[in-house]
Amino acid sequence: MDRDFESNNAERFQTSPEGNKHAKLWVVASGKGGVGKTFVSSSLGITLSKLGHSVVIVDLDLSGANVHTTLGVKPSHMNIRHYFEGVKTLQELVIPTQFSHLSYVQGFWDSWTPIDFSIAQINSLIPQIKNLRADYVVVDLGAGALEAHLELFKAADEKFLVTSPEPTSIEKTYRFIEAFVCHTLKQDSTPDAYGNMISTLRSHRQRTLGKPFSFRSFLKEQTGLHYDFFENMASSPVRLLVNSCRSQSNTDLGHSIKSVCNKYYDLNIDFAGAIDYDNAVWQAVRGREHVLISQPFTSLAGQFLGTCKQLIDPEELRAVV
Ligand SMILES: Nc1ncnc2c1ncn2[C@@H]1O[C@H](COP(=O)(O)OP(=O)(O)OP(=O)(O)O)[C@@H](O)[C@H]1O
Ligand SMILES: [Mg+2]
Repeated sequence: MDRDFESNNAERFQTSPEGNKHAKLWVVASGKGGVGKTFVSSSLGITLSKLGHSVVIVDLDLSGANVHTTLGVKPSHMNIRHYFEGVKTLQELVIPTQFSHLSYVQGFWDSWTPIDFSIAQINSLIPQIKNLRADYVVVDLGAGALEAHLELFKAADEKFLVTSPEPTSIEKTYRFIEAFVCHTLKQDSTPDAYGNMISTLRSHRQRTLGKPFSFRSFLKEQTGLHYDFFENMASSPVRLLVNSCRSQSNTDLGHSIKSVCNKYYDLNIDFAGAIDYDNAVWQAVRGREHVLISQPFTSLAGQFLGTCKQLIDPEELRAVV
């Protein structure tokens, strides 16, 4: 990488006027693996940076880092392992990319042994992430509803849940949402009330309750469970992205999943966008160039632009791509 560029870009991140503000945390998760989280994370990061915002993408997929590959850069020796081993702060691991305003933190790629992180580790990482010198931090998570994933998801300002239109992915998307709801409720509930809630939800799933069930009313009626949860979910909803859409019926799945969540869990999720399937995506990865860079004026690029613009405070919309 060009050294002058590297130092200039590094300087921009050091002297960001937003230095004292918390970075907005966007977390990208999925129930199933291989549905496009890394593609979505890198695309959101690139789109935000094209809009003039400073962005750091943090690769937190412990099962194998990929962000560097989608950005077309070589994996860096300095990586998140050095943070977890206490050798570096997270800020010290921020590496500039060839794109203006866009940096990243290299994920684990040289650990040789399986890695997992605890809730305690994630809770100490969250303030470091929010204190990174950037307007936005986009986190690419590994697949599945692990507790540490749910904890980070809960802390996010924007929570993206990516699904493909495949039934296997949709099924795991519902499981992720259920796990997220229960993880969040568990922390503020008494063990008895939580146990009773799980067994009621199980009966609801098995259709053995014998009467219509409203999760919202159930929570309101119970002592030891917190109804506030629904209020919080309304102000910071899960945002569903349906990736790799090949037809209108694929796109419409987003509306169906939203209405199922409403009907079965009284839960309001946001259908934040449908992303086309486009062969150019994987072809660009093979060529080590991101498709939003090699083909910036496609409908795919427009879909990410639409999603980002809808979530950015209008006063912060600085430039047009
Ligand atoms: N919209 C799309 N159109 C075409 N190909 C896509 C699209 N989104 C992702 N892909 C391709 O699908 C594959 C999986 O994508 P990606 O690596 O982003 O998924 P992931 O959810 O991060 O996977 P993992 O769970 O293994 O981390 C990649 O080859 C990627 O290039
Ligand atoms: Mg990935």
